[in-house]
Amino acid sequence: MKQVQLSAYGVPEQVARCVEVPDVGAPAADEVVFDVLLFPINPADVWFCRGSYRLKPPLPATPGAECVGRVAAVGASVAHVKPGELVINLQRENWAQRRRVKGADVIKIPAGIDLKQAAMVRINPPTAALMLSDFVDLRPGDWVIQNVANSAVGKLLIRLARGRGLRTLNVVRRESLFAELKALGADACVVDGPDLWQRARALADNAPIKLGIDAVSGEATGRLGGCVADGGTVCNYGSMTGQDPIMNRADVIYRGVILTGFMLGRFLAKRSIEQVRALYAELADRVVSGDLNAPVEKIYPIEDIQAALVRAQQGERTGKILVAPNGPV
Ligand SMILES: NC(=O)c1ccc[n+]([C@@H]2O[C@H](COP(=O)([O-])OP(=O)(O)OC[C@H]3O[C@@H](n4cnc5c(N)ncnc54)[C@H](OP(=O)(O)O)[C@@H]3O)[C@@H](O)[C@H]2O)c1
Repeated sequence: MKQVQLSAYGVPEQVARCVEVPDVGAPAADEVVFDVLLFPINPADVWFCRGSYRLKPPLPATPGAECVGRVAAVGASVAHVKPGELVINLQRENWAQRRRVKGADVIKIPAGIDLKQAAMVRINPPTAALMLSDFVDLRPGDWVIQNVANSAVGKLLIRLARGRGLRTLNVVRRESLFAELKALGADACVVDGPDLWQRARALADNAPIKLGIDAVSGEATGRLGGCVADGGTVCNYGSMTGQDPIMNRADVIYRGVILTGFMLGRFLAKRSIEQVRALYAELADRVVSGDLNAPVEKIYPIEDIQAALVRAQQGERTGKILVAPNGPV
């Protein structure tokens, strides 16, 4: 079977190769084998290839934090999924044609779900949902500000916030994105820049902005810090600049703005497996209903992993780059 392997950590398209490896074999009693139908290339996968992600396993390593699969076989003691059903996998190393994992690590998703969206259910939808629920007690009408608002997480967050009656102020790098984000339900959009705090507060009619959500890092974190109300929270969850977050000490010291951070695994670990399954069931239902959606730009075959990686790292994409390891879906 085919699998993507990194021969070294470095420039992703130079170190990633599609190679032939032995099949995964039959499942043990507590295991599940599934065919990987689609996987996305997320920013964290790119960091993984570069060797700058928090996990850096011995080489050769296989990336892949998420995918959608179809169950091929289950072990004798696995009861919650059956062959033919669609699953997402809580474990990594998913850039391959086939996976064999513990039954407890797969979560069944509805048969009618769009496969492209299913491939992206595992990480970004719960990330957006939990950042809105786990830091600040937000009530209908409250304002939230986020940067990378046109990212997959950003667009999901707009929809989820809208569903809760929250108002979003969306920071992007170009004005041409405003119409698309407003059609999704964004209340206000703004282009990032040094005077962001003045423009953002005016757009929110000077109502307190209780939560700032940052995946740019560097000085951009501080710019969100300047937008949130006294005692407000800035949640850093990514670094598209590759920099560490920088906060203005006047915001931290004089105004009591709090900088905190989010990592999905850490916040899922606070929940029981039943709560995690319920969270995914709710999010998958919203994907099936069309309420949650992340645009896809292009699907590549696994043999073209280098070209897929090049495109995934370019700015101004119209959507996610996906890979179909077992041919068109
Ligand atoms: N902590 C967690 O558990 C967790 C979970 C999921 C995602 N994340 C993080 O969430 C972020 C978004 O992920 P995604 O999958 O939604 O991304 P995505 O759909 O691939 O979009 C990437 C976004 O980053 C923007 N961007 C790229 N380089 C930038 C730069 N130098 N400065 C400002 N913006 C830049 C792009 O804007 P343009 O269109 O202008 O190029 C685009 O909006 C990533 O940082 C990812 O690591 C974290």
